[in-house]
Amino acid sequence: MKISIMGTGYVGLSTGVGFAKKGNSVLCFDIVREIVDKINRREPTFYEPMIEDALKEVVSKGLLKATAYLNYAVLNSDITFVCVPTPSQKDGSLDVSYIEKASVSLGKALKGKDYHVVAVKSTVLPETTGNVVLPTLEKHSGKKCGRDFGLCMNPEFLREGSALTDFLKPHRVIIGEFDKKSGDILERLYKDFDCPVLRTDIKTAEMIKYVSNAFLATKISFSNEIGNVCKRMGVDVYEVMRGVGLDRRISPDFLDAGIGFGGSCFPKDVDAIISKAKTLGESPIIMESVIELNRNQPLRMIDLLKKRINIKDKRVCILGLAFKPGTDDVREAPSAVIVDRLLKEGAAVNAYDPKAMEKFRDRYPQITYFNSAREALKNADACLILTEWDEFRNLSENDFNLMNKKVVIEGRKILDREKVQGFEGICW
Ligand code: UDX
Repeated sequence: MKISIMGTGYVGLSTGVGFAKKGNSVLCFDIVREIVDKINRREPTFYEPMIEDALKEVVSKGLLKATAYLNYAVLNSDITFVCVPTPSQKDGSLDVSYIEKASVSLGKALKGKDYHVVAVKSTVLPETTGNVVLPTLEKHSGKKCGRDFGLCMNPEFLREGSALTDFLKPHRVIIGEFDKKSGDILERLYKDFDCPVLRTDIKTAEMIKYVSNAFLATKISFSNEIGNVCKRMGVDVYEVMRGVGLDRRISPDFLDAGIGFGGSCFPKDVDAIISKAKTLGESPIIMESVIELNRNQPLRMIDLLKKRINIKDKRVCILGLAFKPGTDDVREAPSAVIVDRLLKEGAAVNAYDPKAMEKFRDRYPQITYFNSAREALKNADACLILTEWDEFRNLSENDFNLMNKKVVIEGRKILDREKVQGFEGICW
């Protein structure tokens, strides 16, 4: 099929590359000329394992091309996926200005086009597609939704670090449809994906995305709360959760306790659904607790550290800045909360991350960055491990011997208790 993608950020480019890998012909539209040129030069605009090679492959085969002209992209495709950002506003509610602007341009482009399907992939709160996208498209195209063009909401469930695999091997595809014809077209596009396809109305599809993320975030905060209790009793929360997760009704995923969740989705999405629930007169106490626990969890690292050393004027080595391994993304990363507090309390910070230092440096130029974990450990008075990068798993007692004092606290469980003396975990 011929597909166009509006917005070539993380979701847009991963989706475009994924559909092209499946043999579709993809046109990626972006308003930023440099991004368009970069993609056509086969260079991804962000770090993501597998996307780089896959992009080279699909561009070389002529299956994917980027363009700065939306009309061209729409005229030469049957479906347009809207993948523009939907950031949070200060009060946690969703900023729909990008999606609104995208709908205006798309509406204008639809003027010169026969039946075309618009599929919203951006994460939008229930009622946004129906109340914002639909009327804007109709107004600017002069056309009728369901008759002259189709409209679907097709949420993405891509994890950073494994976006392409998640795209190609999804657990499910959700198609929220305004009209049956557009739902049929989208289902045809996904026909050789080996997973259940669930067709719903648009509001339900929008809600499924939020509830999935809110539920996963709840599992994490729940595990962290249990972990905090386990630590006080000398019980290993990882063993507890291994036992708990074997219950098929619970599943072992997203039960890893630690410093809490970050990234561009969980914090923003849970905030947005809380804010929506409140506007509807509900008090979402579970989700509010999930966020509160997650806000406090990273600071437990500082509390543990202070029990071991007086941090003022000490040098603390931070290993891992990205919100999770496999990405250079530092958005809502617990590392920022921890570094803020360390600096506020007068500590000096050494930092190392295999991928995320450049992005972190933009916000924290005042800390010292090193090219390896070993260099960052040298002469440090304490070490906090914040991201479970594989290379940290291979650190040995010898590496930690480079420190002034071996105080090592891990926020993600990676080290062997026997291997490093002076070691402790945030919840274990
Ligand atoms: C998430 C969703 O998984 C994905 O479906 C959605 O589309 C976007 O948001 P992502 O933010 O890339 O993806 O990462 P994910 O792997 O889900 O991890 C999110 C956060 O939770 C990370 O900070 C991670 O370290 C943390 N986490 C995850 C835990 O603390 N414990 C776990 O057991 C799992």
